[in-house]
Amino acid sequence: MLKKINVRDARLGMFITEICGNWMDHPFWKKEFELDKQKDLDTLQLCGIEEVWIDTIKGLDVERHPPVAAKEENISPETVVSEKKADQHIPVQEEVQRAQKVHFKAKRTTAFMFKEARMGNALQTGEAVELVDDITQSVARHPGALLNFARLKNKDDYTYQHSVAVSALMIALGRQMGIEGDMLRSLGIAGLLHDVGKMMIPEDVLNKPGRLTDEEFEIVKTHSLLGWKILKESHDVDATVLDVCMHHHERVDGMGYPDRLSGAALTLPARMAAVCDIYDALTSDRSNRRGMPPSEAIRKMAEWQGGHLDQTVFHAFVKTVGIYPTGTLVKLKSGRLGVVADQAPKSLLTPIVKVFFSTRINEPIFPELIDLSKVPDSIASVEDPADWKLDLKTMAGI
Ligand SMILES: [Fe+2]
Ligand SMILES: [Fe+2]
Repeated sequence: MLKKINVRDARLGMFITEICGNWMDHPFWKKEFELDKQKDLDTLQLCGIEEVWIDTIKGLDVERHPPVAAKEENISPETVVSEKKADQHIPVQEEVQRAQKVHFKAKRTTAFMFKEARMGNALQTGEAVELVDDITQSVARHPGALLNFARLKNKDDYTYQHSVAVSALMIALGRQMGIEGDMLRSLGIAGLLHDVGKMMIPEDVLNKPGRLTDEEFEIVKTHSLLGWKILKESHDVDATVLDVCMHHHERVDGMGYPDRLSGAALTLPARMAAVCDIYDALTSDRSNRRGMPPSEAIRKMAEWQGGHLDQTVFHAFVKTVGIYPTGTLVKLKSGRLGVVADQAPKSLLTPIVKVFFSTRINEPIFPELIDLSKVPDSIASVEDPADWKLDLKTMAGI
């Protein structure tokens, strides 16, 4: 539907069909375009134009529910989500389609860059920068949409898809920790390129079904240094990206590889990468095992913090993805089965769940979004989709 709006109400994700006024009064040369860059939004709002036409079918509408100032209530610190970012999200359903496009482009671009690396060519990081900006915008609009796609992987393309997922997780975690600007972009690029050294590992070792021998594991471990060498020879790769590539398998107790770093020598980006890398690896299906449900991975990682993972970073990570991350299959006390569709702004324990099945009558029910912070129902258990013969891919469209 076409709608004329004041430029003050313009926001990223809208589809502009016409800018009102003389074309010489503004710098936009295209008549119709998606408003997907912050600098374009800033220009639009500052160039003196007052009104634009938008198409609400092709893009977002004006904000219908302006965020209301959150009230402080007695909620324990560990369940409070950082409100600074959480309150600014659009509903996840509005971001799903765009996130899918970003994810598709990200997989394709990453596969191309990694194949160039395999052939011994220096990486052209310009494409990575552009891609990371797209990922950052999607995550800023709603982190759950892209992270949900990023968990779904084909076994064949694992390394590329894992790289995209770690990039999105690094950006979401960075935002949660108050990091922005160039540093946030570096974290995203670091996530995307951290495993580029795997391109130099023989495929029969990298994709071996079953357990690696000690000798094979030593070969895989060289990917940190091999990746660092590839990036060192490429243009415009900053120190953070190099550091994360070399040190994303270090542990806070000094038992990681390749340098057994600990204490101050282990930088914040490397600590962040370790958390994001492990979470994505645990929740992904591999050739030799099925991925864990996200909430199970969080529970497992909680046992490792202190020795393996940085505690502060891990706590920020849990606030980022939730105790019941989006996409988790849960059974409610009412007997209804549903998928976590979104995180609640205030409590990690009461997410928004899309219910679709009643275990009491053993039949599907009309799908419905339920905000557990507002109804007298709660999560009874986390369920394995395989036990219910459910396909997570069909659930990604929440
Ligand atoms: Fe790695
Ligand atoms: Fe990795």
